[in-house]
Amino acid sequence: MPQDNVFVTRLIPQAGLEKLRGACRLEIWPGALPPAREALLEKVRGIHGILCLLTDRIDRAVMDAAGPQLRAISTYAVGFDNIDVVEATQRGIPVGHTPGVLTEACADLTFALLMAAARRVVEGDRQVRAGLWRTWEPLGWLGADVHEAVLGLVGFGRIGQAVAKRAGGFGMRVLFHDPFYTGYQHEALRAQPVELDMLLAQSDFVSLHAPLTPVTRHLINRESIAKMKVGSILINTARGGLLDQDALVDGLSRRHLAAAALDVTDPEPMPEGHPLLRLDNVIITPHIASASTTARGRMAVLATDNLIAGLQGRRMPHCANPQVYENRR
Ligand code: DGY
Repeated sequence: MPQDNVFVTRLIPQAGLEKLRGACRLEIWPGALPPAREALLEKVRGIHGILCLLTDRIDRAVMDAAGPQLRAISTYAVGFDNIDVVEATQRGIPVGHTPGVLTEACADLTFALLMAAARRVVEGDRQVRAGLWRTWEPLGWLGADVHEAVLGLVGFGRIGQAVAKRAGGFGMRVLFHDPFYTGYQHEALRAQPVELDMLLAQSDFVSLHAPLTPVTRHLINRESIAKMKVGSILINTARGGLLDQDALVDGLSRRHLAAAALDVTDPEPMPEGHPLLRLDNVIITPHIASASTTARGRMAVLATDNLIAGLQGRRMPHCANPQVYENRR
């Protein structure tokens, strides 16, 4: 008979839930929206494991509310900026996340946004539906070439590299900046490591693929936008907090930037009436980079495997704070 109590903060694909059902006593938040703070604090009381989403803030208060028997936290995402990992580590609680299984899906959407922004696909569609398509216009709807353009990747982890692979097919020149990158993969991908300022100055497209940390918050701000090429395009499929949105509104309104495409914003969802929503040269999608059926199914299985391993005292397949295992020795 499964003994451990687990709270899952939203319905996730069955492939994951089936495994969990066999391994623990499960409570799943039934709502389509995240549990409100009070409800989350109430629901975690007495649990041994939590499977959360990127929309749930898992901090000291939540860990306190759960109690000292809490042994595993697993997030259904690769990013874990919503979790106080330092606090979890101090308590010896492993935090699981889902890298790898969503890499290609996220790179696909990044490229879709890049191309849509370059060739004004969404803007064109809006105009057609509004009945504003009058004729074929020699000077109308001009956009930017993608082939042979310069792509600057801020962050060169799995997803950044998968985007570089796609860029190769378009004959793009790829620059990247990543202070934590140490590998050789860039050679095969023909990507060139450069300082951030050089990347901003030379790129026709700048795409963000860094994690959100206190250091990377507003990495792209008024100053960095001023360093970007006039007419360049910014894509963000990583985390909204990487970007100072007021600075972006300014850069887009002055047409210093030709366009932006954002799959992530700060906050999410974007509040009604936000100035970005009034600009034609912005595409905003509702944080869907990993939203392919296959990727989301694999994320469910991995998030579940992480949680079960954590509950059983085994090493999680993908742990954000592996120090907890060192500390146990
Ligand atoms: C993640 O996993 O961090 C993405 O933002 C959502 O899939």
